[in-house]
Amino acid sequence: MLDSVIDLRLAPMAAVTNLPFRLVARGCGAGRLTSEEIDARALVVGNVRTSELARFLPEEHPIAMQLLGADPDVLAEAARHLEAAGADAIDLNMGCPVAKIVAKGQGAALMRDPLGAAVVFRTLRKAIGVDLTIKIRGGWDARTVNAVEIARIAEGEGIDAITVHPRTRSQQFSGVAPWEIIARVVDAVAIPVVGNGDVRTAEDAWAMTRATGCAAVMIGRGALGAPWVFQAAEVSRHERARIIRRHCELIETHLQGLTALLQLKKHLAWYARGFSGAAKLREALFALETPAAVQDAFWNAW
Ligand SMILES: Cc1cc2nc3c(=O)[nH]c(=O)nc-3n(C[C@H](O)[C@H](O)[C@H](O)COP(=O)(O)O)c2cc1C
Repeated sequence: MLDSVIDLRLAPMAAVTNLPFRLVARGCGAGRLTSEEIDARALVVGNVRTSELARFLPEEHPIAMQLLGADPDVLAEAARHLEAAGADAIDLNMGCPVAKIVAKGQGAALMRDPLGAAVVFRTLRKAIGVDLTIKIRGGWDARTVNAVEIARIAEGEGIDAITVHPRTRSQQFSGVAPWEIIARVVDAVAIPVVGNGDVRTAEDAWAMTRATGCAAVMIGRGALGAPWVFQAAEVSRHERARIIRRHCELIETHLQGLTALLQLKKHLAWYARGFSGAAKLREALFALETPAAVQDAFWNAW
């Protein structure tokens, strides 16, 4: 019954939450989907790989497309492009901790500059009519936890919803996600707040909702190798096998060449977690050279 009361969503993950995995998550009951981060400038200049990342299918609605960037005008042009392509929402990445991204003022670096962030919000808000959302961290580091300040500014600039992954940029993915920061943001603004961080099960999602009052819950790493986390009911071994087979088919249909091969390896390695001899199987999967060989090795171990 948990899934009937909690809006569970798949968190954006670069090189993971591509079209096939999003369809699998939706098939398992995930709510609004979000693309992986899309470089706004690369999209605007028509980079082929980026345009491919920005592709989605009608059955993915409702879907948010997430932009990574810092220049307000470039972000606005990319957002208009995605709105015209049918995106239901544009989400601004304010959480990416990667050094070469923050060095460009993008991702989590936007949180260090509340005035600059306000200009980005205002420019994006003027550019598009669909929902505009942001995904933030707790702050830059332990001395500058400013999620509440950024959330208030965002609300004032007409942002429709905020996802909070409460670790700071300095924490990256270490330690425990301090959910109390999500609760503080919920208390500070009237727009919906989506909680994120360390939710591995539907029970965790329930606990986060109770602890923070968030309107929806986003699950990232907990969905790797376990997209059935979005359906609270017990999933049989037979049903898991069906979901994994469909995932493989979707990868082969929608991705090409080395990208498809790498995605099969990554996701099947995640699905193999908990198998006896999983580490060996993982090594074997990554050494194989064709999609058929990778899938055969997985199903032989299943
Ligand atoms: C491999 C990986 C890639 C990620 N890529 C993105 C991204 O593109 N955009 C984003 O906003 N967050 C990204 N994140 C952060 C997740 O969306 C999420 O905030 C974080 O993993 C915490 O949630 P979790 O504990 O449920 O995994 C990524 C996380 C991981 C593990």
